[in-house]
Amino acid sequence: MNEDDIHTSSNGIRHLYVHFPFCARICPYCAFYKTRGNAADLARFCEALLREAGRVAKKFPLTLETIFFGGGTPTVLSTAQLKNLLEQFHEIFDLGGVREWSIEANPGSVSAKKAAALHQGGINRISLGVQSWDNKFLRLLGREHDATQAEESFRIFRGVGFSNISVDLMFALPGQTEMQWRNSLQKTMVLRPEHISTYCLTYEQDTQFLARFERGEFAIDDENEARFLELAMTTLEQAGYEHYEISNYARPGYRSEHNRAYWRGADYIGIGPSAFSTRGLERWQNVADHNGYAQRLFANESPVGSIERLTPAMKRTEHIALGLRTREGIAAGTVDQNQAEKLISNGLLSHYANRFALTRAGKLLADSVAENLL
Ligand SMILES: C[S@@+](CC[C@H](N)C(=O)[O-])C[C@H]1O[C@@H](n2cnc3c(N)ncnc32)[C@H](O)[C@@H]1O
Ligand code: SF4
Repeated sequence: MNEDDIHTSSNGIRHLYVHFPFCARICPYCAFYKTRGNAADLARFCEALLREAGRVAKKFPLTLETIFFGGGTPTVLSTAQLKNLLEQFHEIFDLGGVREWSIEANPGSVSAKKAAALHQGGINRISLGVQSWDNKFLRLLGREHDATQAEESFRIFRGVGFSNISVDLMFALPGQTEMQWRNSLQKTMVLRPEHISTYCLTYEQDTQFLARFERGEFAIDDENEARFLELAMTTLEQAGYEHYEISNYARPGYRSEHNRAYWRGADYIGIGPSAFSTRGLERWQNVADHNGYAQRLFANESPVGSIERLTPAMKRTEHIALGLRTREGIAAGTVDQNQAEKLISNGLLSHYANRFALTRAGKLLADSVAENLL
């Protein structure tokens, strides 16, 4: 059995996700749980989060190796709040084995002081939400920052000592041309981030963008999306980035350990409103409401809102869908051999070391390849 196929660890849970539910401005395409909180909400959330951290540290055997602060926008908290949270995390958890500690940062809420506090507090990886280097698209996306601020933020993080920075970009934006996407990729490469995530714009439930799509203001063009993905693969691979997951590229040695654990189905604990946790076949989610979340924790109650028991078949489906998106692919024994042979003869799948992985052509049709293998 390959290490990638081990789901549970007898030595404890190695991965922690922390959801920060606040943003300074709400982007019209985003479906993550987030809200515009006021100063009192933010302060209450910090206190509640530390209570939950204490609860999970007592309840679960944790041997943490990766931590991911996501959201929402963790950097919307003040420098003092972030500093205090980081100090308290060092008290609550044994962080001696943590190799990767990431935080999502929005260029609209970065300062040199805040960046330095994050670095001093033990965070060693930044995921910067740039999305585009073109102010016209940043306005369309409702972003709170412009391209100059995004570049300044990147340089601030570098300046305080971060040697592992990832840049998030979005493509297939309404009206975006291939040339504009190429320019965004090239501008990113000038900064030489260690990691780049490229996300195809999706029209998510309950977003303004979906409403605009339904009114016919925006359209989806599958061929266009495939061309944009291909352009990213070619441009970034030529520049020395490994395409290690459909949406992710890294310079050698900089793949995200936290995300890789998630893709291979490892157990993880999630804290904060709306966060998911998974252990074996059990999955649970905290309430997606920052007030309810804080109230429960202040009343010494669990913030878990729902629990689901997966069947082995559900786990297998997820394992195939997620694993196939990665460069390592999936163990050959986990899927139907006849279907796999067909996909290999169609040039969509490759067979190596008893594993199946998507070919370049397969990456452009990842979802339908996965469906064929289930
Ligand atoms: C939790 S969000 C962001 C971090 C931070 N709040 C920010 O926006 O800068 C993580 C990433 O998901 C991507 N994303 C969010 N909604 C998306 C959508 N509807 N389609 C494609 N990518 C999306 C964006 O690239 C974003 O940076
Ligand atoms: S994309 Fe980021 S900043 Fe925008 S609403 Fe979503 S989480 Fe908040």
